[in-house]
Amino acid sequence: MKKQKYVIGNWKMYKTLSEGLSFVDEMTKLLLDVDRTKVIFCPPYTALFEMKKQLNGTTCELGAQNCHWENSGAFTGEVSCSMLSELGVQYVILGHSERRHCFGEKDEWINKKIQALLAYKLVPIFCIGETLEEMESGSTKDVLEHQIESGLRDISNVGNVIVAYEPVWAIGTGLNADSIQIERVHKFIRKKIEKLYSIRESENVSILYGGSVNPQNVESLILTQGVDGFLIGGASLKTESFYHIIKTVEQYS
Ligand code: PGA
Repeated sequence: MKKQKYVIGNWKMYKTLSEGLSFVDEMTKLLLDVDRTKVIFCPPYTALFEMKKQLNGTTCELGAQNCHWENSGAFTGEVSCSMLSELGVQYVILGHSERRHCFGEKDEWINKKIQALLAYKLVPIFCIGETLEEMESGSTKDVLEHQIESGLRDISNVGNVIVAYEPVWAIGTGLNADSIQIERVHKFIRKKIEKLYSIRESENVSILYGGSVNPQNVESLILTQGVDGFLIGGASLKTESFYHIIKTVEQYS
């Protein structure tokens, strides 16, 4: 996959279909001159079909926030990769800390989902990150190592995976890791991928940061060594903040 800068908006369970469509309509007009940064909207499932039509002819792309690994079956409430693929979804967020912590998502499931997505030529946005207690007890690297090893088990084409480092304590809290911490962790993640695969393959993997990225901190974060872009929650819901973040990333792309 071509290495480039990403700004991905994770809307979580926000915006109805009509709210989402008018937001994207406004944003895509503002983003006409953005061509070096890949902007991806990840709305709730209910908006995917209409939003795909709206994004046709723009440079922005579409992502979902989860999927099931089976193609079909008796799994009430779930949506499969083939269903997403038919809609024209290109990316899927997986292993987000809210899924891990609120819905008991396990490393093995995340691994099966990554395998299923790659089989459908969809791009997994594979989220990893430590909790506050894990950070304070000095086990960040162990936690990330375990998440990477189990999430990527038996995956051969790692270059088609985007990794998002999202410290759990930074998500939606207004706290964010500082540049020194982020640089150190991103380096560690890339080294780990290099050990599991090769230098060449690890260099193809985009590693994003997520956790309270906002218009005030985006410039110092994008200048941090090893940061290939961002996964944005709260600040992706408002035109001004999302636009400011994208323009800043574009400036340094
Ligand atoms: P936040 O969320 O930007 O609101 O901290 C990030 C995320 O959950 O991906």
